[in-house]
Amino acid sequence: MWLPCRCTTKYVAASIRRGVSASFLHVLRRGRSSWNSAAFMPESAGFEGVSGRDALHDYSVSHSENFWAAVARQRLNWIRPFDAVQDCDLSQGRIKWFEGGKLNVSVNCLDRHVHTCPERVALIWERDERGSEVRYTYRELLEMTCRLGNLLRRHGVKKGDCVTIYMPTCPLAVASMLACARIGAAHNVVFAGFSSEALAERIRDAQSSTVITVNQGVRGGKITELKRTVDAAVQSCPTVRQVFVAMRTEKRVEMADRDIALEEEMLKEDVVCEPAAMDSEDVLFLLYTSGSTGKPKGLVHTQAGYLLYAALTHRYVFGYHDGDVFGCVADIGWITGHSYTVYGPLANGGTTVLFESTPVYPDPGRYWDMVERLRINQFYGAPTAIRLLIRYGDQWVKKYDRSSLTTLGSVGEPINTEAWEWYNRVVGEGRCPVVDTWWQTETGGICIAPKPSEPDAEIVPGMAMRPFFGIKPVLMDTEGKLLTSNNTSGALCMAQPWPGMARTIHNNHQRFLETYFHPYPGYFFTGDGAYRSQEGYYQITGRLDDVINVSGHRIGTAEIEDVVVSFTLFLYPYHICDAVCSDEAHLSDFILIISVTQFAKRLPKTRSGKIMRRVLRKVVDCDLEGLGDLSTLDDPAAVQEIIEGHEKVL
Ligand code: PRX
Repeated sequence: MWLPCRCTTKYVAASIRRGVSASFLHVLRRGRSSWNSAAFMPESAGFEGVSGRDALHDYSVSHSENFWAAVARQRLNWIRPFDAVQDCDLSQGRIKWFEGGKLNVSVNCLDRHVHTCPERVALIWERDERGSEVRYTYRELLEMTCRLGNLLRRHGVKKGDCVTIYMPTCPLAVASMLACARIGAAHNVVFAGFSSEALAERIRDAQSSTVITVNQGVRGGKITELKRTVDAAVQSCPTVRQVFVAMRTEKRVEMADRDIALEEEMLKEDVVCEPAAMDSEDVLFLLYTSGSTGKPKGLVHTQAGYLLYAALTHRYVFGYHDGDVFGCVADIGWITGHSYTVYGPLANGGTTVLFESTPVYPDPGRYWDMVERLRINQFYGAPTAIRLLIRYGDQWVKKYDRSSLTTLGSVGEPINTEAWEWYNRVVGEGRCPVVDTWWQTETGGICIAPKPSEPDAEIVPGMAMRPFFGIKPVLMDTEGKLLTSNNTSGALCMAQPWPGMARTIHNNHQRFLETYFHPYPGYFFTGDGAYRSQEGYYQITGRLDDVINVSGHRIGTAEIEDVVVSFTLFLYPYHICDAVCSDEAHLSDFILIISVTQFAKRLPKTRSGKIMRRVLRKVVDCDLEGLGDLSTLDDPAAVQEIIEGHEKVL
């Protein structure tokens, strides 16, 4: 592998409808300080009379063009300034930002920082082998990116082409993404845990002629034969002309005519690579995400709007400051890795951690050992991992010094109260705000999160709470009518466009319109349900297509999870009164749910840890013929277990 040459938050007990009483909750306070919009966000100095976070949010949605124009001018380096801030019409599914403007994303992520601080660390590669991390400065990452950009150009990759990247989270993968951006090619990163069929389907849909991969992957101490998977995939991909192969391990792999040794060839290239001047709305990347029908959707993100949104949310949701070390543990194969491991932190000149391992390798202390060793300030992970780690006990956390931490982030699914509490109390020692961030591949960046907020504003456990600047969430009822009151639930939609949103589905604009814009004309439909509290805070209740109907009750998966979790409280006499008094409705809900529950040892999950709900639905419908593509499943045996369990319930 290519190596560098030098080797009061006030947390209030508003646990809305959750069956956990106020007496369980701790109240944290932080010193009060005034919130001056202009000091907080320099570009807001021109927004007259705007003072405070809420006023700045109001301004960002009521004067959206002024807001985004000021931010875009200040935060991005433009080759040519934009002529129009936006040309969007949600009723038509038309989204265009900063047209007329030209820029290069890799210049914004690298060159401008190399001018001011070339020796600042850009990447810390936390390799699978604990304690063997490698640091890359901005200068080194730029050099690597330029060599790769030149190499791709020399091999005929042109502006407008799409390069598929099938690599684990590592510096060369980041440099590959940035090299594409440098020469104007789009990238299509495919999670390196996907099977050859899943990879082939994505290569074919993206019509890639170039693939970049590694000989072998190393994760959790296990070797995966990634090059072999690519070999199998390209058999059914006639468009593929060339496969660049980097060396993650020493193991030599068989090289066919189309295969090119990446590091060897990079060495022959110049360290200067002319950046392409890209239009704001040129494609930056495709990223495939599972659709409810089983055929993955290649969501398209473009240059300026995406980068700006990733950078701004990274800066303000996590309170990222120069010199901080940002630890997002998501794989680069997901949107979280794109926006908060790569683009957001690098656009902000930050130091970002590339986590190659798993939360339990070589033991369940891995995250916190890494936090201590790398002095991570903001840690960003998923509730699944948190729940897993809770089971191993607090000692694995407490063993390590976590005093560097200032913010803890959560993403990907609703975080149940128990997990939130543990994250806050045990990991963060009650002094780090927990930000439950809601967003999607489609949204490009975080849309709802407790931060930024006024310094003394409350954070409610398990709630994403506040829309980010420029975001205007609304709730809709089943008839498509806007729900205007608080303390209500409905379909979560967005009433205004924002720069980070996806522009289309590759090769299928019609599906894009039908999925996101036709259900509620004039709005972007997220596919999620949400509850808006009395105070106006949002809580995501889960995918709307997960909702099940039990004896006339509409129940989402998050609600079921919460009822089950809160009911375990009955096992402990100390908690029994609190649990019963807090919400009597829970008892009947629980009985209702328990009477139709099929217990399973495990659920069919994708390699990224998402439950394949489509499969469960088909099993419940007894439609085994319609199970669809199971190639992205982590362990297909789980499906067989569910089928057998269901036969017993029947
Ligand atoms: O259902 C929501 C859930 O994850 C979906 C988006 O998945 P994906 O495109 O893979 O992106 C995941 C990382 C951004 C959403 O539609 N989701 C994401 N974050 C949360 C969440 N559900 C509840 N709370 C969250 N914080």
